[in-house]
Amino acid sequence: PPVIVDDAAMAHIRALQKISDESGGNRAHGRPGFKASADYVKSTLDAAGFQTTLQPFTHAGAQGWNVVAEWPHGDANNVMMIGAHLDSVPQGPGMNDNGSGTAAVLENALTVAKSNLRPEKRMRFGFWGAEEVGLVGSKFYVQSLAAADKQKIKAYLNFDMAGTPNTKAWGIYQEGPDLSAGFKAFFSSKAVKTTTINPAGRSDHSSFSAAGVKVTGISSESNLSNLEPCYHAACDRAANVDPKVLGLGANAIATVFWKLAGAKTVS
Ligand code: PHE
Ligand code: ZN
Ligand code: ZN
Ligand code: ZN
Repeated sequence: PPVIVDDAAMAHIRALQKISDESGGNRAHGRPGFKASADYVKSTLDAAGFQTTLQPFTHAGAQGWNVVAEWPHGDANNVMMIGAHLDSVPQGPGMNDNGSGTAAVLENALTVAKSNLRPEKRMRFGFWGAEEVGLVGSKFYVQSLAAADKQKIKAYLNFDMAGTPNTKAWGIYQEGPDLSAGFKAFFSSKAVKTTTINPAGRSDHSSFSAAGVKVTGISSESNLSNLEPCYHAACDRAANVDPKVLGLGANAIATVFWKLAGAKTVS
């Protein structure tokens, strides 16, 4: 795939930070900053030619939404999916957790569109609401699918925290059938350290694995019992996202996702 430049991904971080600043300082489920974040992602994808859905659900008396986008090319019976949670906790703007995953997945979608890609398989992109209150949006999405449509999803790749400053190593999810080889190869080609992590139940991939979908993912957090200092805090602002780390993560995703989807690499 073409290289994703760090600043293209950072532009989405700046947009989400502005949304948070204008919405009372967070992007949490049930708060105005969440809906504004969903609108930003959906309108960006609409403008790029995606088929997008704003999927509503309710949780704890509040309205939530998932944004799901599909690149309308390739075999619809063989779906490869990447996703990230779009909500923050109420304590802060959630730029590393998880503006970073959002930005990486969103810029990946825009790169597919710019490349006018014609993959063998179908590429789908999920932006989940209400992850922080129990993986609610992704569970709702998976449960809303008919059994036959669930079976069409051949893999789901999750991105939660992908811009950690001074990251020590990239964590690669190992949960169920092994899909980690592509990420291991990517990072080793860049001489970047990796470690195995198992965030079972701690992010949206678990909603998919619970339904029998093969999953993996990466995070710039390599120790899930010692997350970065601004985790779930007011200081998880744009300055808490390292552009180089985010850029590397976005390119790791592109490399692995294009390969899984059977996309011909032109450059
Ligand atoms: N961001 C997750 C949370 O909000 C924790 C997590 C970090 C999960 C890294 C997966 C990978 O709790
Ligand atoms: Zn609920
Ligand atoms: Zn979190
Ligand atoms: Zn998270």
